[in-house]
Amino acid sequence: MTEHTDVVELLKAQHTRIRTLLDEVTATKGDERRQRFQELVRLLAVHETAEEEVVHPFARRNIDGGELVVKDRVEEEEHAKRALSDLDGTDPESPEFLDLFAALRQDVLAHADAEERHEFAYLQQIADRGKLANLARAVRAAEAIAPTRPHPGTDTALKNVAVTPVATVIDRTRDAVRKAMR
Ligand SMILES: [Fe+2]
Ligand SMILES: [Fe+2]
Repeated sequence: MTEHTDVVELLKAQHTRIRTLLDEVTATKGDERRQRFQELVRLLAVHETAEEEVVHPFARRNIDGGELVVKDRVEEEEHAKRALSDLDGTDPESPEFLDLFAALRQDVLAHADAEERHEFAYLQQIADRGKLANLARAVRAAEAIAPTRPHPGTDTALKNVAVTPVATVIDRTRDAVRKAMR
């Protein structure tokens, strides 16, 4: 993912990975499902935070009708974040998890498609490639500095450690991204 210098290509590559992880969480069981879910939580936190802090503000200023386009995307992101928090503390083996996860999956897929169609397509037309390269650098920085969440079950030392709540992962990622962008 890190070789992309074009911000749209980079974000689309993250969308592809997010779509794959959404499928894998549904298709796997037990520890494997837990691991995929943890990876998904981290990637969503990194991806959506970078969009909120860097990409949407840029789109708001630089594309036609940007204010409205971004407003809808931010609402979708808030919705998806709530769906993600609802999953927190739910046993990935329970039927309840799959129901809640199906709702999250739908939100995230619809949101990613809307971004690609209504926001990224216009970003791609921006002539100043240097500005887009700066955005890509910021997205990569977010990816590199985002805190990781312990994977319960993958390491015996971590088995009894409480998993950091999704909201905390998102907050820490935002703080790290803001610090790096200063
Ligand atoms: Fe987004
Ligand atoms: Fe996105």
